[in-house]
Amino acid sequence: TSPPREQFTGQVGFILSAIGSAVGLGNIWRFPGVAYENGGGAFMVPYVIALLTAGIPILFLDYALGHRFRGGPPTAFRRVKTWLESLGWFQVMICFVIAIYYAAVIAWALSYFVYSFGLQWGDDPAAFFTGDYLQLSDTANGGPWFSLDFVPAVLIPLVLVWVATLAVLAGGVAKGIEKANVIFLPVLVIAFSVLVVRAIFLDGAGDGLNALFTPDWGALGDLNVWIAAYGQIFFSLSVAFGIMITYSSYRKRKANLTSPGLVVAFSNSGFEMLAGIGVFAALGFLAHEQGVAVADLEGLTGPILSFVTFPAVISQMPAGALFGALFFGSLALAGFTSLISILQVVSASFQEKFGLSRRQATLWIGLVAAALSVIGMATTTGLIALDTIDNWSNQIGIVASAVIMCIFFVWLLHKGPELRYHLNAVSTFQVGRWWYACVGVIVPAILAYMLVSRIVDLVQNPYEKYDETYLLYAGWGTLVVLVVGAVVLTLPRWRRSPDEFTPWPA
Ligand code: PHE
Ligand code: NA
Repeated sequence: TSPPREQFTGQVGFILSAIGSAVGLGNIWRFPGVAYENGGGAFMVPYVIALLTAGIPILFLDYALGHRFRGGPPTAFRRVKTWLESLGWFQVMICFVIAIYYAAVIAWALSYFVYSFGLQWGDDPAAFFTGDYLQLSDTANGGPWFSLDFVPAVLIPLVLVWVATLAVLAGGVAKGIEKANVIFLPVLVIAFSVLVVRAIFLDGAGDGLNALFTPDWGALGDLNVWIAAYGQIFFSLSVAFGIMITYSSYRKRKANLTSPGLVVAFSNSGFEMLAGIGVFAALGFLAHEQGVAVADLEGLTGPILSFVTFPAVISQMPAGALFGALFFGSLALAGFTSLISILQVVSASFQEKFGLSRRQATLWIGLVAAALSVIGMATTTGLIALDTIDNWSNQIGIVASAVIMCIFFVWLLHKGPELRYHLNAVSTFQVGRWWYACVGVIVPAILAYMLVSRIVDLVQNPYEKYDETYLLYAGWGTLVVLVVGAVVLTLPRWRRSPDEFTPWPA
């Protein structure tokens, strides 16, 4: 006999954990730049529409599947249709791959947290990041694309991140995941709010905010702006690849699903706005110090924003060390609570299918993931691998997973009504028929278009102008790993009957 399914202690623990998962690196380093480049203030229109027509509806779909069928994606999907188990393992594989590189960014943030105190990046943060710190291979001039030269400054914090993550997962849903989020999320919100308030009072902050919020209404006629909005919402809410399915499977039978869903979605967007304000206020200050316009600054998103542009801001401001510690501490915390959620999907799925205990699953998955993470990310080619794998798993893998989910569950298997009744039976906020239109038509249509155009683009233009053979293995190879992994994990027999943790009776 198996132990009863784990549970969050209650609504608050679940909400904080779900927000902890959603609020991640994407909020801090992706949203501000994406909004700025896609119409500024006018971006809010497609952004809110994407939130309401895609983000929240898919969040509800995830919650309904996880709660009604009570399991990680393979278990939950198998209960709907046996052969859908493989789609579940596809989502598990996405989580596994993302965890491998996501951990590395948290490790960098930890290093930079320490570096902040001595402004260790010196006068040239760009050279420091790729040179002194990452010791990045110079592939443009014949350096290797894949090396096994380890970089201790990355290796040490990376091992720490893995140890901490596995310790939390070994503690279980209530005593590990929930506890970590109940402590870390408030710390994150307070630290980040202090940072934003400080940033607003810097010289030139107003120019930064004007640059971010001045609306370019013409952008609304540009299809790419709409695609960017849907892409941002989708990535930011971490929907459609198993995380929210897994978390909602740990809720009690009579759990209110939809209202907490709205709280999570709006909190995530609120944090994005906060980050937009903080980041652009700081960029306004940098432009002011350098005597240029905000529009002339470079490096406004991703790793470069965080690890090159921000260090430049920190070096120029009074009491920069403290500001730096707040920024990199926030980045590490935001990433850590997301990483926990990604790995729990993998752990839960292995526990359920292979009859492992929580500790066994944590140990085995942790060892394999940590080893791959160290080999792939803690070497002189780590940044290139990270960038490439991230692009394929996120831009292709997650979007494909979402499209397939909508098409199978809503179109082919007509599960829409059953899932909507389930949501409405347990929740206070009632989901109307509009939900079918969103998850059945709008989401699959927009995401299918996005998927096809991204694939075409990647086939025609080598990503980042990287070596084409490298992209074949590291980029398209990532996709092959996701698919092959999904098939291989579907094949073995269930060691534990999926009916052992019974779904909630209808
Ligand atoms: N939602 C997270 C963010 O906004 C990103 C994330 C991606 C989280 C993948 C988990 C897994 O940063
Ligand atoms: Na987010």
